[in-house]
Amino acid sequence: MIEIIDLHKSFNGHPVLRGVNLQIHKGEAHVIIGRSGCGKSVLLKHIIGLLRPDKGDVVVDGLTLSRLKRREMYRVRRKIGMLFQNSALFDSMTVEENIALGVREHRMFPEAEIRDRVAELLEMVGLPGIQHMHPAELSGGMRKRVALARALMMQPEYVLYDEPTTGLDPIMADSINELMIRINEAMGVTSVVVTHDMASAYKVGDKMSMLEEGKVIFTGTPEEIQASDNPIIQQFIRGSQAAQPSHSS
Ligand SMILES: Nc1ncnc2c1ncn2[C@@H]1O[C@H](COP(=O)(O)OP(=O)(O)O)[C@@H](O)[C@H]1O
Ligand SMILES: [Mg+2]
Repeated sequence: MIEIIDLHKSFNGHPVLRGVNLQIHKGEAHVIIGRSGCGKSVLLKHIIGLLRPDKGDVVVDGLTLSRLKRREMYRVRRKIGMLFQNSALFDSMTVEENIALGVREHRMFPEAEIRDRVAELLEMVGLPGIQHMHPAELSGGMRKRVALARALMMQPEYVLYDEPTTGLDPIMADSINELMIRINEAMGVTSVVVTHDMASAYKVGDKMSMLEEGKVIFTGTPEEIQASDNPIIQQFIRGSQAAQPSHSS
């Protein structure tokens, strides 16, 4: 399980996370919603140890990240795959090289096995046979799938998705939803999905938490969040204009 305990983070004196408490249980698909700029990506970066809390802790399977030595941290990081918002593929490398980069670096599998696993994962994400293409030749939705195959290559126990459907057309977005559900259920992976796409949130989430003003103001099932009488939550989930900032980040 991932536990986030009283997590605080400021940038240049500007508080973003002001005491986040959250538990992500093994096997669940936990969706985190909240306005643009509220700190969702910052929260995910704390879970993979890319950012350090000013105060509070992230605990992964009983290990407090801030107390880990480099080697232990590396072992925890290997349990967690992340799908970055911009996919973060290397343009100079082929699809196969991108997907295999981590496992080759860490010599996790023999080379022949790596090639087989890349082929299997590409098939699973619906892109069989594109090993030798380059990211520049792919659409946004295809890049997301390749990035997802890369995240799965390390056989993670947890996969973190940052806005996996943002910027995709509705059909492509829904196929990514289906893929996330399949990965969660068939592969037994625990998912944390950050999104402001409510259709996606309801579809993939069995738990939902809302981040607002640096804190988690609600955790519950999709049915429970829809039934909440908190006006801030209602405003957000109904996509009211008033709940959205005029800029986007
Ligand atoms: N590395 C950083 N340095 C300074 N400010 C940052 C950094 N990362 C995020 N922020 C700020 O923290 C706030 C939350 O950002 P973010 O987590 O990306 O929001 P979102 O909920 O849209 O993912 C924003 O105001 C952003 O500008
Ligand atoms: Mg973000």
